Amino acid sequence: MNRIAQCISDIGVVPVIKLNAPARNAAPLAKALTAGGVPIAEVTFRTDGANLAIQIMKETCPDMIVGAGTVLTPAQIDLALAAGAQFIVTPGFDTELVHYCQTKNIPIFPGCTTPTDYHAALKCGLEVLKFFPAEQSGGLAKIQAMHAPFPMIKVMPTGGISLDNLKKYLCSPAVAACGGSYMVTSDLIDHQAWDKITDLCKQSVKIVKEARANG
Ligand code: 3PG
Repeated sequence: MNRIAQCISDIGVVPVIKLNAPARNAAPLAKALTAGGVPIAEVTFRTDGANLAIQIMKETCPDMIVGAGTVLTPAQIDLALAAGAQFIVTPGFDTELVHYCQTKNIPIFPGCTTPTDYHAALKCGLEVLKFFPAEQSGGLAKIQAMHAPFPMIKVMPTGGISLDNLKKYLCSPAVAACGGSYMVTSDLIDHQAWDKITDLCKQSVKIVKEARANG
């Protein structure tokens, strides 16, 4: 596992963020996540200014691990890298994007949900993947079924993760960490509910600890 993947696994949860007003909200959001014990963010390129958000978050909390999500093009990888992104997440498996990240020496976690995806990832030398959309693709049962033939692969399930099912996923030996927007919903960010975000992060950290203690 590369260093960034190891850090992500140690933290256990990855907030998946869609930020509409980065100049206003990126800095307080970075502080809220860090205060909650979740010093990591996947900032999605679903809004303009994702690269600005990445840059502001890194400047505000330099020790935070900040990556780019919903990356669909090499140009977005360039923008993310220039902003200081430390990892790239793609919704699906795109060989061109994987190779581009590898030439740029930045970890990439492509979305994979099938044995065919896992084969393709292994061929590219990847062993930590995003499992997306997790709940909609068969959830933990599918992850466990795929763990039998692919024990070397660890996944970060994302899509439908909440405080209610987080522990169940994290207890699986196939799961490195879980991603989700439940602690950083647009509603919470738009209302600048930083304390609530910190509280949801703290609750998540508690669940990570419980799951790891069980494992
Ligand atoms: C993602 O892009 O990873 C998902 O939109 C996050 O899924 P969630 O909103 O169900 O947590």
